[in-house]
Amino acid sequence: MTVDTLAPVPVGLPLPAALDGRTVVVVGGSSGIGLAAGALLASVGARVVLVARDRDRLAAAVEQVRTPASTVIGIAADGTDEDDLRRVLDEAGGPVDHVLVTAGGLAGGPFLDTPADRLRQAVDGRFWGAYGAARVAARAMAPGGSITFSSGLYLQRPIPGAAAAIAILGAVEGLTRTLAVELAPLRLRVNAVRYGVVDTPLSRGSLGLDGDEAVAAAGRGMPLGRFGTAQEAASASLFLMTNNFVTGTVLTVDGGQTLV
Ligand SMILES: NC(=O)c1ccc[n+]([C@@H]2O[C@H](COP(=O)([O-])OP(=O)(O)OC[C@H]3O[C@@H](n4cnc5c(N)ncnc54)[C@H](OP(=O)(O)O)[C@@H]3O)[C@@H](O)[C@H]2O)c1
Repeated sequence: MTVDTLAPVPVGLPLPAALDGRTVVVVGGSSGIGLAAGALLASVGARVVLVARDRDRLAAAVEQVRTPASTVIGIAADGTDEDDLRRVLDEAGGPVDHVLVTAGGLAGGPFLDTPADRLRQAVDGRFWGAYGAARVAARAMAPGGSITFSSGLYLQRPIPGAAAAIAILGAVEGLTRTLAVELAPLRLRVNAVRYGVVDTPLSRGSLGLDGDEAVAAAGRGMPLGRFGTAQEAASASLFLMTNNFVTGTVLTVDGGQTLV
């Protein structure tokens, strides 16, 4: 087998055409998996609302995602702030069909040397961001809508130095299952994607990988010989948005990384 056969193939058709004309809010849409989701959504004709805090990066993301046939807007907001999220849904202009939450990072440090106060903001933001996004969205969405959260494989295969961040993944998955039950009478579905290591600015930064060669070398030890692409990770959320019978599910998209 040559190295080329291991290379990622761009995600192509069939992407869910059911998202054509739907409005999708991506909280965390200016980078990595959220940005890739925005591009896939625009390619199937969805109305895409990208949300992130840094205005310049957000404006660049909107330019990158926009196609002649699609509507893509960027709204700068803090996804951990329910008032800000309420403003996003107002400014989105019209009913929102799906919400994808990819905001959040991997704050950590050696357990015995890392007091809780140093992590509290990041940990709070990750959990209450998901909680608040669902609260705000559930009031504004029509029946048939969905909310998708982000989790990570470290919940199944923990690494040292990330105790609080990994514990929060468990909380987000618990929230997913709980809200799937509580919001089902509104005909809203709630799911999460549990990502393996995906090549994004976040993973490059947290793993200290500088450049494509370092990423490729680090990925060689993975079952498929590489990390996932942001596009591969993002396409899972389009599946969850469009399958009307999937709720309370945590979908693992990790290239088999959990198995080894
Ligand atoms: N990449 C991986 O290998 C991996 C693996 C497992 C799980 N995950 C999870 O998947 C999610 C996406 O990861 P990624 O790698 O795509 O990250 P990324 O490249 O760092 O992108 C994160 C995005 O979220 C935005 N964001 C962060 N905090 C925010 C806030 N409070 N309000 C609004 N927007 C916010 C960022 O923009 P601003 O900073 O400008 O706001 C950026 O657009 C994260 O939750 C991550 O923990 C990733």
